[in-house]
Parts: sequence; structure tokens; C-alpha cells
Amino acid sequence: MLDQARVMRALENVYDPELHQSIVALNMVRNVAIEPSGRVALDIALTVEGCPLHQKITDDVNHVLRQDPEITDVAVNLSVMNEQERKKAFQKAFESAQQNRAQGATSAKPNVTPPTTSSNTRQAPVIGPLPGQGPAEGMMSDANKTVVIGIASGKGGVGKSTITANLAVALNKLGARVGIIDMDIYGFSQGRMFGAKDKARVNEQEKIIPWQVHGVYLVSMGMFVEEGQAIVWRGPMLGKMMQQFFTDVAWPELDYLLIDLPPGTGDVALDIAQKVRKAKLVLVTTPQEVATYVAHRAGDVAKRAHQEIIGVIENMSYVLCPHGDRMNIFGSGGGKALADLFRVPLLGQIPLESTVREGGDEGEPVVVSDPESLSSHVFLDIAARIKHRIEEEAAG
Ligand SMILES: Nc1ncnc2c1ncn2[C@@H]1O[C@H](COP(=O)(O)OP(=O)(O)OP(=O)(O)O)[C@@H](O)[C@H]1O
Ligand SMILES: [Mg+2]
Repeated sequence: MLDQARVMRALENVYDPELHQSIVALNMVRNVAIEPSGRVALDIALTVEGCPLHQKITDDVNHVLRQDPEITDVAVNLSVMNEQERKKAFQKAFESAQQNRAQGATSAKPNVTPPTTSSNTRQAPVIGPLPGQGPAEGMMSDANKTVVIGIASGKGGVGKSTITANLAVALNKLGARVGIIDMDIYGFSQGRMFGAKDKARVNEQEKIIPWQVHGVYLVSMGMFVEEGQAIVWRGPMLGKMMQQFFTDVAWPELDYLLIDLPPGTGDVALDIAQKVRKAKLVLVTTPQEVATYVAHRAGDVAKRAHQEIIGVIENMSYVLCPHGDRMNIFGSGGGKALADLFRVPLLGQIPLESTVREGGDEGEPVVVSDPESLSSHVFLDIAARIKHRIEEEAAG
């Protein structure tokens, strides 16, 4: 008999394309009504408003339900979860990703016929520049060989700037030519991290000469204003400033340009995706759930902009006790769960070490000030992984 239970069982085979979990398990299915004619009407609560993949979910629901010969018609009504429901859904997805990992599974997909992609499935909106419209200038041009990597987290204070500085030095130690743009216009910190204080100088072509410290080239708002000094840019000025960091700097030839992004889930990252089509992204999170949720949103924005996410770095992962035990003071698993969600590698887990903070405060990234520390080894390992991945990609 066609009843709610049968409809729900069928819907267990529809997966949220981003969370890789059944829409039933995620509690997205509501108000299933079966009319005597065999018409099934139901509500689907999306996790995020304007979820770009809503059309795919609608198509997949239609596809699985219409396989039931007693269902004559399907009506899907879309709504959006409230904050609490969304939290629960994300929690469920993270738990499941972790469980899957513990069981050694490689995918959260079930053992059932996957829903087919219907021909009218809508693509996520393209936010980056359209082909042929890309900016053609210097560092931003498609022809430029420099690998541009944004370091993003969504949440503030998780260690983006620390990671940017140390990865830059580590990549340089591995033989690469590396630059950094401190794109945190309001909360710039790279000058302090590198101990660079000089004000901006320009060359004969009126291009800004980047600071050159510990083998790395660097530009930051710190070249123009003092740290802590309030800066108020109106939107267009902010965009212009960001653009100038790419185009009006006397950049030498670089293999990597790392971009220290401000906290927030996306507008600056999106702006960069528009300006530099080939920009890639590394997501930073701490092991706590809340940081992971926010980083997930940042990653989502990147995906919509068709930016490649290279991998996830988990920071402040553990404290190493004197007898060698690891203590997970901020919980555990956030980095791996996030990496699993985006199906990208967890590039490394950086311990919480006072030497990391001291290095940042004293103008010498830990990779320089304490190269034998555990964190320095982890930074070098992450840099080597990124370099390896990029070189493999370049080799095709
Ligand atoms: N692994 C670590 N061990 C110890 N301290 C760390 C570690 N990572 C970062 N910190 C410290 O945590 C603080 C925040 O780090 P950082 O400024 O790099 O974060 P952020 O994500 O760039 O912050 P914001 O969002 O404000 O730009 C700094 O004082 C830094 O020295
Ligand atoms: Mg920062």
C-alpha cells in the first residue's frame, strides 16, 4: 500500500549533493501528503537559502518517487531550515563523515542505485568572470604561471595569517619563489608576522616595491597605515585596493602567491575568484564544530565560484604533553570531517604551540625562529604536499 513509510523509504535514496547524506537522515523531508489519486506532495527544507543545488534535489526526488507505479504525480515545495535545524543537519553530516572514515569507507554514498542526473539539472551559478572576459593584467591574467592560493576560514582567529606566513616561508625553503598579499585590509597582520615596518616605496614605473623578508615577497596595508589605525574604505575603494595589490606591485616572477584572506564567509574570496579566475583555496579550521561549520560555508562559496579547494588544514589540533601524549583541548575531527565533506585531502594538523605564537609576535614565523619545533615540521610537510599536488597537476 502506498503510504508515508513507503515514500520515506524511497526518499532515503535521495542525497543532498553537498552534505552527501540522505535527505531523510538530514530531516529535510516534511509534510508528506498522499492524495487518493496517487499524487504525492511534500516539502523539502534546504539547508541554505538559495542553495544552488535545489534543482538537483527536486529532480532526484521526482526521479525516485516516479519509479513507484502507484505514484501518479509529485509536487515538491522548497523551504529553508532555521538556524537550529541547519546546525543539526550539519552535525549529522559531520558525524556520518567521521563514522564512515572510522569504518574505512571512502564515500558516504549508500549501496543503492544512485539517482540519475536529469538533463535539466541546473548548474551552480557561475560567479567568476565568463570565458574571454578575464582580466588580462600581470598577476591576474590567465597566462600568468603563478599559482594563486587563498587561505580562508570563515571564522576569525583560527590561524589564517600564521599559516599563510609559515607556508610561504616553507615553500621558499623547498625552492619556490613565493609572494604574499595580505588581503585583510582592516585587520592586516603580515607586517607584524614578518617584522616588516617600512612604509611603501615605489619604483620608477610607480609600482609598489614589495617587502622582501625571510625569502618571501610581501604587500600589506601595513605599508600605508599603522596597525590599529582605523581605516574606512568605501566598497569601491576597497575593491580598487585589492586590485592594486595584484596589478600595481613590482612583483618578481613567482611560483606561488598566497593570499591571506580576512575572516568572513566569502565576499573578498569571491572578489578574488572574479579577478583571478585560476585562484585556488585552502580551508583552515580548528577542530571545534563551530569553526568547521563556518569553514564549510566559506568552502561552499568557493565551490559556487568554481574555485578549486586544494585541501583543509586543521590548526590548534592538539597540545603535545611532555610525556608525548596528544591532548585534544579543542575537540577533534573537525578538519578531517571538513575534508571529507569536500572530498579533498586533510593537508595537515598543526599543534597548539607557544613557539608558533611567539614567532608571529616577534616577526619571525616559527619555521624561521624554531625550525626544529613540531609545528615547523608540520608546516614543511604541508608545503611539500601542496607543492607536490600543484606540480602533479601541472604535469597533467
Ligand atoms: N598553532 C598555533 N599555536 C599557537 N598559537 C597559534 C597557532 N596558530 C595561531 N596562533 C595564534 O593565534 C592567534 C590568531 O592567529 P592568526 O592571527 O593567524 O589567525 P587569523 O585566522 O589570521 O585571525 P584573523 O581572522 O583575526 O585574521 C595569533 O595570536 C597566533 O599567534
Ligand atoms: Mg589574519
